[in-house]
Amino acid sequence: MTTDTTTSATATEPSPAGTTGAFPDGFLWGVAFAANQVEGGFDQGGKGLSQADVIPYRTAGDYVDISALMKVSDAEIATAVASPGTAGYPKRSGSDFFGHWEEDVDLFAEMGLKALRMSIAWSRIFPNGNDAEPNEEGLLFYERLFTRLREKGIDPVVTMSHYEMPLHLVTEYGGWTSREVVGFFERYARTIVGRYTGLVRYWLTFNEINTTIIESYTGGGVIEREPAPGVDPRQAGYQALHHQFVASALATRIVHELDPAAQVGCMLARMSHYPASSDPADIVKAQFDNNMNLFHTDVQVRGRYSGTVRRFWRDQGITVVMEPGDEELLAANTVDFLSFSYYMSLVSSVSPEKYGATGGNLFSTIKNPYLATTEWGWHFDPEGLRYVLNDLWDRYQVPLFIVENGLGATDVLEGSAVDAAHDGTDTRRVHDDYRIDYYVKHLREVREAIADGVNLLGYTAWGGLDIISASTSQMTKRYGVIYVDADDTGTGSYDRVRKDSFYWYQKLAATNGAVLDEA
Ligand code: BG6
Repeated sequence: MTTDTTTSATATEPSPAGTTGAFPDGFLWGVAFAANQVEGGFDQGGKGLSQADVIPYRTAGDYVDISALMKVSDAEIATAVASPGTAGYPKRSGSDFFGHWEEDVDLFAEMGLKALRMSIAWSRIFPNGNDAEPNEEGLLFYERLFTRLREKGIDPVVTMSHYEMPLHLVTEYGGWTSREVVGFFERYARTIVGRYTGLVRYWLTFNEINTTIIESYTGGGVIEREPAPGVDPRQAGYQALHHQFVASALATRIVHELDPAAQVGCMLARMSHYPASSDPADIVKAQFDNNMNLFHTDVQVRGRYSGTVRRFWRDQGITVVMEPGDEELLAANTVDFLSFSYYMSLVSSVSPEKYGATGGNLFSTIKNPYLATTEWGWHFDPEGLRYVLNDLWDRYQVPLFIVENGLGATDVLEGSAVDAAHDGTDTRRVHDDYRIDYYVKHLREVREAIADGVNLLGYTAWGGLDIISASTSQMTKRYGVIYVDADDTGTGSYDRVRKDSFYWYQKLAATNGAVLDEA
């Protein structure tokens, strides 16, 4: 964090009476990551290429227009497919969780975690996406992992698709724009839910489903192409999204049929918009922007598209093809809980040119003068998390789950693996007090929201281990409480080093949040 983050009014004040130790019994303290950013082993165990394996490393540079780093063209995919090995494609190496998973699970157990939010790589189970039979090696990998986690008292919280689909479905079918992909996903969902019945109690269908609109390659495997004359360029994204909603409803039905003890959640990148001023026009604009973020959860929790998005399509001339029965399917198969990521808040205005901009991983926003920003230009807004929790709870009245929240920062590894000055012992340390500060400030607000009456299942900090950044493909944008010794080029020992935040998070879990009362 480069900027002063003490702007959060409540951060340095004691909690109001009555909120101490307010996290409910059984609260799911955990960490979270995604297969495409952590696993590596991109060509091992029968895995096929995924859409993430072909994203090249590009110098991040302009963080304000970050979404450009997440797209790939047809030509770049062809080059990537012809490039063997991991060089230049960081998501092919990840953090080598594939090679270190047993050691990593031991570390998570040492932290006293109750949950690990992770995703299955679809391309590890169905290498091409449309294969008739699943890849047994891939199924076994996750079975061993889930079994080991459960033995350690850690619940896997499993996302079926986190920014990842088999590349073959991208290049040959147009990603989620194709209705056929719904059928392939249904087969995939039936396979994994059937296989892991009794092992997985919490399923999420699609990670940050709203990304399909914001960055359609990342969210929906849609390669950006010139649309046909007269067709709105956003139409492909909305069509892909509708197919994902249908696929998500089918997956929800499958879980409820095959494993009634398990629960299914949707997953939204919650981007709450504040009005830039008290001008009613700004307030209506912020309301519209919020409703356009929340129409996704309207579909998945309430079971129907909202008036806001239907009007938006009409006004913009966007046509979304729905098959007979789709709307009934959405209505009949709503989720059991709502999970979301929270990293920042945004600002809306009808006159954005009056204000400066700052960054985000998916798009930039007007700068909020009341908030500090992180090293990567993201608004730092712990109180906004309390606002979001209350808002979501009031709107939907289903249990909530914070499945991503954390700080991407440049960490400094001190000491050495074999330190001659210290009898050859390992003196490696990472003093990341800024990350602890980030958690303290956000979690105090979470506790306030629980005291406000919000029903919250758990909190899984992003990303547990250092991982490859989704947007910039950097390893040096570190999110973990466990350091992974590798750089942006994939060079390093991949050793794991406990950061100071590891020990703090361990205390957090052990005290069920009471450590937040320490200064
Ligand atoms: C979320 C994604 O949007 O943000 C994660 O679900 C991602 O996959 C996280 O890693 C942080 O973003 P970034 O771009 O800094 O990795």
